[in-house]
Amino acid sequence: MRNSNYKINKIILDRWSPRAMSGEELNDDELMPLFEAARWAPSSYNNQSWRFIYAKRDSKHWNKFFNLLIEFNQQWCKNAAVLVLVISKKTFDHDGQLSITHSFDTGAACENLALEGCSRGLVVHGMQGFDYEKAKEIFEISDDYEIEAMIAIGKKGNEKNLPEGLKKGEVMSDRKPLNQIVFENIFDEK
Ligand SMILES: Cc1cc2nc3c(=O)[nH]c(=O)nc-3n(C[C@H](O)[C@H](O)[C@H](O)COP(=O)(O)O)c2cc1C
Repeated sequence: MRNSNYKINKIILDRWSPRAMSGEELNDDELMPLFEAARWAPSSYNNQSWRFIYAKRDSKHWNKFFNLLIEFNQQWCKNAAVLVLVISKKTFDHDGQLSITHSFDTGAACENLALEGCSRGLVVHGMQGFDYEKAKEIFEISDDYEIEAMIAIGKKGNEKNLPEGLKKGEVMSDRKPLNQIVFENIFDEK
């Protein structure tokens, strides 16, 4: 249970990143709405720089994704239904110039994806613990794209089945107070 200082939409507080997943598959009717939610994120010039490459656990491509992960993430991602590699196009479609906000926009799409998944009772867990260079190589991603993150998606599992070291981490985290992140008129770096 999370408490906010001001009343906000419930889904924002309810979204979190569990690691316990059941190992069950997700069909397209369960998975695609998450990408649909991502699709509707705002972006600079409506450029929609986000791209999602995914594999389901029953696919022969699963290991390509799974083997990118560091060991820590493999421990719990072995029960994910889907692994997603998130990349972003660095330039605008309309003029080929650099889009300064390509990563920012893609982050917004990922939050949409997470909120949609969470509201459907699914686990959606972002990851930076993977080999970025190897991902670029095996998916033949050109320098026009940035490798952003990976996401594990799955049906909720029992936390008792997590490896011992991960059990105590299966709790909702708190946040910094507003006065450390919001500044009226001037920025106070301290
Ligand atoms: C871009 C990104 C990368 C992350 N990388 C990892 C990771 O490699 N492994 C992991 O277990 N959790 C990872 N996390 C989960 C964060 O630790 C988690 O989102 C954060 O502690 C806040 O918790 P909450 O999502 O439950 O609110 C990542 C989250 C994000 C957004």
